[in-house]
Formats: sequence, C-alpha cells, structure tokens
Amino acid sequence: MKDTYILSVESTCDETSIAIVKNGCECVALTILTQMDTHAEFGGVVPEIASRMHSENITMVLEETLKKAGMSVEQMDAIAVAYKPGLMGSLLVGIEFAKTLAYVYNKPLIGVNHLIGHIYANNLEDKLEYPLLALVVSGGHTELVIMKDDYDFELLGSTLDDAIGEAYDKVARVLGFPYPGGPNIEKAAALGTNSYKLPKPVDDDTYNFSYSGLKSHIINLANTERMKGNELRKEDLACSFQTVAVDELSRKLELGLKNTGIKNVVIAGGVSANKYLRIEIGKVCEKYKAKLYIPKMLYCTDNAAMIGAAAYPLYKRGEFKDLSLNAESHAGVCD
Ligand code: KG4
Ligand code: ZN
Repeated sequence: MKDTYILSVESTCDETSIAIVKNGCECVALTILTQMDTHAEFGGVVPEIASRMHSENITMVLEETLKKAGMSVEQMDAIAVAYKPGLMGSLLVGIEFAKTLAYVYNKPLIGVNHLIGHIYANNLEDKLEYPLLALVVSGGHTELVIMKDDYDFELLGSTLDDAIGEAYDKVARVLGFPYPGGPNIEKAAALGTNSYKLPKPVDDDTYNFSYSGLKSHIINLANTERMKGNELRKEDLACSFQTVAVDELSRKLELGLKNTGIKNVVIAGGVSANKYLRIEIGKVCEKYKAKLYIPKMLYCTDNAAMIGAAAYPLYKRGEFKDLSLNAESHAGVCD
C-alpha cells in the first residue's frame, strides 16, 4: 500500500509547530518553536504577542521541517491544521497558512481538534486499542471520555470550572513560581511533603471535576499567612496541592474503569508530562488491569506531530475541509 504523508500545523497557543507524519504513526520530522521565554516575562501567554510571533516564524518552521525530512510540499498527500480550541489569533495564523499551502499545492485540507490530537499522540508510539478511556488534562481542559473507535467519542465528565493545568499555573503564580507553572510546581512538590490540609474538589460519584475551589483555598491561605507574617512552606503547599489535584483525577478514572469495564486508558494533554500524575494513574490502571498509554515527553505538550496522527483517520475517510475553514476558540473533545 502506498504510504501517506501528512504535513501538519499546530499554532493553537504559544508553540509554532509543523510536522510530517507518515501513515498516522511515524513522525518523519517535527519542529517546535516555543514562545515560552517571551511570555514568561509577562507571567502568562499574551494573545497578541503569540499571534504576531506565529506569523513571523511559521514559514521558517515549515522550511526547517521540510529540510529535516528531505521532502517537499509536493510530496505530501494532505495538509492538516489544528483549528480548535485555542487562542483565536493564534489559531487563525495556522489555519490561513495551511489553507494557503493546500490551495497553492492543490492538496486536501484536514481540520483537527487539538484535544483529539493530544489523544492520537499516543499512536506515534503504540497503536491505540479500543474501547479506551481518555483522560484529557491540559491548560484549558479536564475531560474523561470514552473512545469506542476512531473518532467515536462519548463524554463522561469534564471540569465544572477551571482546568487542572490552569490550576497548576494559578497556584504557581500565587506561590511566586515563574510561568509555565505546571513544571515548576512539579519540581517544588518533589521537595515538599503533603502537610497542608486542603479541601477535596468534587467529593462525589459523578465524573465531574472542579479545581476553582482548591485554587481559591490556596490563594486565601497564602494571603492569610503572608498577612500574619507567617512563612509559607511553598514546597509543602505545592506538594499538598498536587496530591489533591491528581487524586481527583485518579478517583474519577477509577470510577470510569469500575463502571465501564474498559481495559485501555490514555492520558493526554500538557499535564500528562507530570511524573507524579503518571505514577498515580499507573497505580489505578494496575489495580484494574488496564493498559495505560502515555505519550513520551516530546508528544505530551503542544506539537504538530499529534495533529498529523489525528488527521490520518480523517484522511482515510476523505473527511476534508474547504477553504472556508474557520477557527473555533472553544471546543471539547466531543464538539
Ligand atoms: O496541552 P498543553 O501544552 O496546552 C494546552 O492545550 O492547554 O498544556 C499546557 C498545560 C499548562 O497548564 C502547563 O502548566 C501544564 O500543561 N503542564 C504541566 C506540566 N507540564 C506542562 N502541569 C503539571 N506538570 C507538568 N510537568
Ligand atoms: Zn495542548
């Protein structure tokens, strides 16, 4: 069978990335240009700066990727782009770029949901088996989803307020750790103990998550301690936060495994880079004898290879977009 090469574009937030993916499972070349250092100066992503930097860099990122692969756009079978969810201005840069390539080189255009990309990132290493439970943990989303087959999803539950990554970033900010908060909380937590008593997020038997109460509790606690002139044990607070935040994921995943009997689990999204989370979710999967798929670090945070992997089933089905494709800033896995 002829091999399929998809050129994929990711620009939903603050990474400009382009990849060439073969048959949905082999990353031939990948370039990721992160704007992290620029945004760190402002303590978070500044949307206007993000879209401007995407426009300035995207052509160079394409050239670099083609050079690494030793291939040309003519050799591609399709152009794929992450068109939802994300920052509007950032999404538009990637979409217009992908549309232009598709038009100029006369290639089919494929629109990919960024969150579904995070799930398919696992196919770059190990073929996903269905049915599976996907735990999507990113900066903007926390969702537990049943995936019955390629692109066949059923939402079990999602966050009622903040996403887990957002909570990591906000707690980091209040503790004085630089952006991006997640990895810095993880480092601090490794040096601390779980000695602060924090409230459990949603202590019930639904599949819903909630992180805003936990976040507010920590902000209040930090402010009160500072006002009283007490020393804040930052590492301990980071560890206590992480323990409660991840425990919430473990409990809901356990509920899902128990109720559905599903034996495959995927963790997806930027927060899946967290080692403590990987270990704790691993324990739950072991208890239920479920296979756990975890993407390697490079594929955990935003990258275009995952977009190419998620585009492949759509390519096989001939699900193409026309040049009216537009950005959608809000979407979950099932939207
Ligand atoms: O998937 P992603 O790269 O972008 C979105 O689609 O949102 O996820 C970014 C989120 C941020 O909130 C970041 O702090 C978090 O993932 N993150 C982590 C770690 N690495 C990234 N959170 C906890 N521990 C980490 N090691
Ligand atoms: Zn992401």
